[in-house]
Amino acid sequence: MTREHVLVTGASTGIGRAIALEFDAAGWHVLAGVRREADAQALRAVGSPRLRPIILDLTRDEDIDAAAVLVRETTGPAGLAALVNNAGSNLSGAFEYTRPEQARALMDLNLFGLARVTQVLLPHLRAAARRGRPATVVNVGSIGSVISVPWEVWYHASKWAVLGLTLGLRHELWAEGVRVTAVLPGGVRTPFLAKSGSQMDEAVRALPPDAPASYARGMSVLRSRVAVAERFGSTPERVAAHVRRVVERSGRSGRSYVGLDAHVLRLVVRVLPPRLRDWVLRQSFA
Ligand SMILES: NC(=O)c1ccc[n+]([C@@H]2O[C@H](COP(=O)([O-])OP(=O)(O)OC[C@H]3O[C@@H](n4cnc5c(N)ncnc54)[C@H](OP(=O)(O)O)[C@@H]3O)[C@@H](O)[C@H]2O)c1
Repeated sequence: MTREHVLVTGASTGIGRAIALEFDAAGWHVLAGVRREADAQALRAVGSPRLRPIILDLTRDEDIDAAAVLVRETTGPAGLAALVNNAGSNLSGAFEYTRPEQARALMDLNLFGLARVTQVLLPHLRAAARRGRPATVVNVGSIGSVISVPWEVWYHASKWAVLGLTLGLRHELWAEGVRVTAVLPGGVRTPFLAKSGSQMDEAVRALPPDAPASYARGMSVLRSRVAVAERFGSTPERVAAHVRRVVERSGRSGRSYVGLDAHVLRLVVRVLPPRLRDWVLRQSFA
């Protein structure tokens, strides 16, 4: 049984909830970020007495600052052994009709929220690293961090940015004993998929009458891919177990794929010549 502390963002549902419960079951002290008291209560009901939900909306600086104070008070000189930046959301639809404020809101959460919480918790991660083995930051990216598909361009841009930040920060923090790793899942059966499906339906409904015909066609193909992921995607528990392994092995590599689809797509990216790969991708959305 470990006595170490981990903070997980976006722990109300899906992957984040599974990660919080996975670490809790393994004996960690879990600080689980949620946005609503009802979600905090739901987590308390299923976790051990060690599991501590905290209100943490990553778009609110005051929440992030309060989380840093709480981490200092809770962990003391032992510091924070791990931070799992999991919270994130999607933005589906045609780039041409996406409103700038929608794109900014997505980046505020998926990139800037992740960056800000990492920044304020770094002193506590360094404190943990000074006491023994390296501390770990896991950033939940996506297979969309290495391959972009149409109608998800802002989401994938945010996840490429998460991977870019991860890989650079990994070098920056290496000497301090803080290891940063991006975990890149394929499709995972969480509420995220239903939300993405509804966003896609709404985006198709909202297309202006003069929108190119290829847009509605392409989006309906992506919509069917979401349905496939809802049937065959990884379970959030599988991703959670993977994240715990990454943390317990102190983030040995900068990126780590999870799920059969993620591994297949990673292979496609690696072995196919870029022009052939792009052609295959376009055909599959035609
Ligand atoms: N599911 C997939 O197929 C898949 C694949 C690859 C990567 N991912 C990534 O995995 C991560 C978790 O997604 P999921 O599938 O578990 O989706 P999910 O069930 O929709 O969970 C998203 C989590 O993020 C939280 N969140 C949303 N806005 C927030 C904010 N402003 N501040 C703090 N937390 C906020 C949500 O809280 P509320 O309940 O309060 O909204 C929820 O806890 C995301 O980064 C996603 O991009 C998912």
